[in-house]
Amino acid sequence: MQFFKQTLFTLFALAGLLASSGAMAEGNPANGKTLFTASKCNQCHGTEVFTRSDRKVKNLAALEAQVRRCDSNLNTNWFDDEIIDVTAYLNQQYYKF
Ligand code: HEC
Repeated sequence: MQFFKQTLFTLFALAGLLASSGAMAEGNPANGKTLFTASKCNQCHGTEVFTRSDRKVKNLAALEAQVRRCDSNLNTNWFDDEIIDVTAYLNQQYYKF
């Protein structure tokens, strides 16, 4: 029983650690790249929309909002941290805010 309690406690502690590190994280661009590459994000537009001179997205918050919008259009159903990872990837690769 003692062992069980300790194991449970460790699991909760780990889950808490993961949750809090996720909230603090700036996103993981490498994972974002994997997600983006595996997605159908290039169905409606290519990556040229990220670099065109009259691109619409002007800051990081707008980028995240647009990734969310396109994600729900596409029904990709990325989790919040996946949205953040893809945002981090697009920012690192194209937007450079
Ligand atoms: C159903 C069609 C569609 C799909 C699929 C799609 N998008 Fe979009 N996306 C759009 C449209 C429409 C725009 C606005 C383009 C414009 O203004 O000319 C846009 C614009 C964007 C922009 C902003 C470009 C700018 O001007 O700065 C980003 C970033 C973006 N999409 C990301 C994504 C990501 C990430 C995915 C995959 C989850 C995705 N899109 C999939 C339709 C789509």
